[in-house]
Amino acid sequence: MKNYNIQFDKNGRLRHFLTIEGLKRQLLVDILDTAESFSGVTAQSIKKVPLLRGKTVVNLFFEPSTRTRTTFELAAKRLSADVLNINVTASATTKGETLLDTLHNLQAMHCDMFVVRHDRGGAAHFIAQHVAPHISVINAGDGRHAHPTQAMLDMFTIRRHKKEFAKLNVAIVGDILHSRVARSQIHALTTLGVNEVRVIGPETLIPCEVETLGVHVYHDLREGLRDVDVIIMLRLQHERMKGALLPSEHEYFRLYGLTEEKLAYAKPDVIVMHPGPINRGVEIDSSVADGPRSVILEQVTHGIAVRMAIMSMVLSGSASIPLSIRPPGMAEVPKTQEQLSGKANSEGEII
Ligand code: CP
Repeated sequence: MKNYNIQFDKNGRLRHFLTIEGLKRQLLVDILDTAESFSGVTAQSIKKVPLLRGKTVVNLFFEPSTRTRTTFELAAKRLSADVLNINVTASATTKGETLLDTLHNLQAMHCDMFVVRHDRGGAAHFIAQHVAPHISVINAGDGRHAHPTQAMLDMFTIRRHKKEFAKLNVAIVGDILHSRVARSQIHALTTLGVNEVRVIGPETLIPCEVETLGVHVYHDLREGLRDVDVIIMLRLQHERMKGALLPSEHEYFRLYGLTEEKLAYAKPDVIVMHPGPINRGVEIDSSVADGPRSVILEQVTHGIAVRMAIMSMVLSGSASIPLSIRPPGMAEVPKTQEQLSGKANSEGEII
């Protein structure tokens, strides 16, 4: 069947986990429910189940990571898988080996799953299109495009605190433009049926036509925070910014930094989230990051159970959906190595 979402095999079973866009609500709920059962495992004295015994998971991170890489490693080990962490800066890619050659060599070692982080949007899709049929790919963050496991651990944290999604007003604050996390969160929140998603930030950091994703845009933080149940703060992604988009970090903190004074505009039982890494005094004040409304470190803890759930569902093929779903909404999946590395444009012409 042409044009099916490449996350599913031809029988409609979840094979890769690349983006939340296009996934059904029931699948997201199944992931959250499965993660609930795994969170019991992580609380036991012997934190292991044999579900992925004999499987080999490769962490392939082309960008820095603290939380995602380590929680994927812990999740795989708690499922009894063998784990390889490829240090890309010390691998043969630095000697000119192409990404596909690296992948084919890892495939030759009979690996079962690649967990991939890359600075180019579409990298995980590209890899998923080129691996052997028995291999699964999980997107651990690709450029500005998607960070679907982060969004799912965020949904898990929200559900733990708020139980139902339907009545929630959620504010995502800061650098929406460069945030793969925000994109995945918006897809997850709207699919799970929250009442309202607000994105708040300066005009320079809000993508054009973001309203088409079903969100409301605010440029005034106090106005946007009024009566929200959940606040998700985002880091300024300087590494992805081209040109000066802000007057200064000091000015940004004055207007968009979350302080106790601004927090008071939200509901009294609001929770404050952040995917990390946090920049204290830039997007969030320490008194809020470390305060009673913060669930930032809980998010990290829940990342293990949620990643266990996704890895086990993908490798066991236990999650399935009808084949009629729409294809991933990414504008362009790179088709060649040159496009992936930025050496060719979308037409394949060398630039
Ligand atoms: N939230 C997140 O992706 O953090 P890391 O970059 O440390 O993995």
